[in-house]
Amino acid sequence: MFGPLLKGAHVTLRPGREEDADHFVRWFADTEVTRYLNRRMAVALYQEQEFLKKIGESKDDVWWMIDAQGKAIGATGIHLINWLDANAMTGIIIGEKDSWGKGYATEAMKIRTRYAFRELNLHKLMTEVDTENVASRKALERNGYRTVGIRREQNFREGKWKDRWLGEVLRDQWERSG
Ligand SMILES: CC(C)(COP(=O)(O)OP(=O)(O)OC[C@H]1O[C@@H](n2cnc3c(N)ncnc32)[C@H](O)[C@@H]1OP(=O)(O)O)[C@@H](O)C(=O)NCCC(=O)NCCS
Repeated sequence: MFGPLLKGAHVTLRPGREEDADHFVRWFADTEVTRYLNRRMAVALYQEQEFLKKIGESKDDVWWMIDAQGKAIGATGIHLINWLDANAMTGIIIGEKDSWGKGYATEAMKIRTRYAFRELNLHKLMTEVDTENVASRKALERNGYRTVGIRREQNFREGKWKDRWLGEVLRDQWERSG
C-alpha cells in the first residue's frame, strides 16, 4: 500500500508515482548511497517500475516517497507488517546526497512512527542498521528506537565483515517520551 499524504515542517511523505522509478535507478547505482544498505546492487528502470507496482499492491507494506523543497529526495516504509502481533520493520533511504545532514530523515521517521502507532495501531517497530551508519542510528534514537542487540558480521563490505545494530521502539514507550 502507499501511505497517504503527510506533511511535516520540512518534508512531505506522499504516495509513489510511476515516474518515481527514475530516481531509484540513479540512487541505487551510487555506492555512496547504498554503502550501508543490505541491498547494494543497481537496478534497471523496469525493475523499479515493477517494485513500485508491487509495493503499491502489497497488504503488508505501507510506503511513501519523501519530498523536500519541492523534489523527491528519498523513500521510507513500514514493511513486513504482522497485523496479528502488531509489529513491523521500518526502513529509509535519502537518495539525494545534497539532502543529507539537514534533519530530513529524522523528520520523516517522526511522521512515519506517529502514523504507525496512531493510525495503523501497531505495537512495535523494528529495524537494523549498519553499525557504521551513525546518522541513521541517531535519527532512529531521536525517534525512540532503543538497542536490542547486535547482529555480528552480517555484511561483507569494503573487505571487512560488518555488524548490524538492532533497534526497536515500543508504542507505550514512544507515547511516554512524546
Ligand atoms: C542515513 C540517512 C538516512 C540519514 O539521513 P539524513 O537526513 O542525512 O539524517 P539527519 O539529517 O536527520 O541526521 C540524523 C542525525 O545524524 C547526524 N548526522 C548526519 N549526517 C551524519 C554523518 N555523516 N555522520 C555522523 N552523524 C551524522 C545528524 O547530526 C543527526 O544527529 P542529531 O539528531 O544528533 O543532530 C541518509 O544519509 C541515507 O539515507 N543514506 C543512504 C541510505 C541509508 O543508509 N539508509 C539507512 C539504512 S538503515
